[in-house]
Amino acid sequence: MEGSSIRERKESQNGSNGHSVGLISGVCLIVGTMIGSGIFISPKSVLLYSGAVGPCLIIWTACGVLATLGALCYAELGTMITKSGGEYSYFMEAYGPIVAYLYSWTTVMVLKPSSLAIITLSLAEYASTPFYLGCTPPILVTKCLSAAAILIIVTVNCFSVRLARYVQNFLTASKLFIILVIVVAGAVMLAQGKTENLTNTFDGASSSFGAIGLAFYNGLWAYDGWNQLNFITEELKDPYRNLPRAIVIGIPLVTVCYVLVNVAYFTVMTATDLLLSPAVAITFGDRALYPLSWIVPLFVTFSTFGAANGSCFTAGRVAYVSSREGHMLEILSFISLRRYTPSPALIFNGLLAICYIIPADINSLINYFSFGQWTFYGLAVLAVIVMRYTRKEHHRPVKVPIVIPVLMVLVSCYLVLAPIIDKPAMEYLYCTIFIFSGLIFYYPFVYRKVKWAHTFIAPITVHLQLLMEVVPPEKIE
Ligand code: ARG
Repeated sequence: MEGSSIRERKESQNGSNGHSVGLISGVCLIVGTMIGSGIFISPKSVLLYSGAVGPCLIIWTACGVLATLGALCYAELGTMITKSGGEYSYFMEAYGPIVAYLYSWTTVMVLKPSSLAIITLSLAEYASTPFYLGCTPPILVTKCLSAAAILIIVTVNCFSVRLARYVQNFLTASKLFIILVIVVAGAVMLAQGKTENLTNTFDGASSSFGAIGLAFYNGLWAYDGWNQLNFITEELKDPYRNLPRAIVIGIPLVTVCYVLVNVAYFTVMTATDLLLSPAVAITFGDRALYPLSWIVPLFVTFSTFGAANGSCFTAGRVAYVSSREGHMLEILSFISLRRYTPSPALIFNGLLAICYIIPADINSLINYFSFGQWTFYGLAVLAVIVMRYTRKEHHRPVKVPIVIPVLMVLVSCYLVLAPIIDKPAMEYLYCTIFIFSGLIFYYPFVYRKVKWAHTFIAPITVHLQLLMEVVPPEKIE
């Protein structure tokens, strides 16, 4: 679960029957994970790449449909292969250890830390904009603020699972609150007849193959987290019914919210205003909520803080599952002896996130994140099709019509290839090289398990263990 430590999970498994999450909690988990920074930061880029208001709203809706279809394919995977570990276990089963290894390598080294970097950069932008009236805050300020946010979040999470959980409930509530405020304010203005920005909505629409792909990257970032329910299938009550149900309720709910928030933005801003705004929700607040406009930056900061905190919860999980197979440095899966938190994984993730913040901006980070992430989402939905042939014997309590994974595989190919074909940027090449560079370590450390590698790593692990007071998770009872 996004918020469960190994110990809590053990408790819940040993408890009454382990099925503690009902339909409503499942829906809340989906909604709570998906909403975060994206709806406040992506509208600008989606509009920029799609070129006009009409296509922009269509892309926001289409992203919701893709997330729902993707999640339904994941429901088949999650109920067929119930081993914990999410994608890692599906890749292991469908394609074998090399793909699974590359997945955990990319997740630990790139996807997890870059998403933390994107979320905290958005946080910093919203927290600093009110202090720089009428202009964009200096880059140095936002980068330092975002590094500070990472330090705080990592510290809180290393310190206590309970504290992190407690903050999380408050933060989830505050993100729903601010979305509701924006939607209601927008609806009131629409009712008052402010519809002039919503006419001629297709003028200037982009027809570039790659630009549309980039618009999707940014929209899909706001929807990322749609696969989270897969990680808690074991804790769901009546999972075979509730998993698909929670998906078809939760994701469309988020989609409706996102589209309405965008409509609200467009009722008070023209497309040009939106593109020029340093932080869209703040400009919205200034125009639509005036004496109360301060609530927007405050609550958006809470919301992004919640998203960053939530993404930290999962930092240890992939490392844990893959290090069990000898695919990742053992130390990353260790748990603090006294506090039961996965502190090595948290600290490693935070350090990498800070490294990513230094050279990059939000937009390029989102593009690389989505490029890498959709490569693996694509492979996961392909696994649904592959296993229909190679693993016929598996019981499939949830079986999606085959057209859904086929469509999703095609969409993922488009998403991964379109931006490269349209504008071949070196960065995508670097990203690909980086993903495959994991293989350099695979051969000696994992496949051959050479002796010198062990003699080299073992003392380092022991020293770090003593320094951080961490032990392998099995040792904690
Ligand atoms: N959709 C979220 C946002 O808009 C990002 C989710 C990051 N991914 C995750 N698995 N927690 O901020």
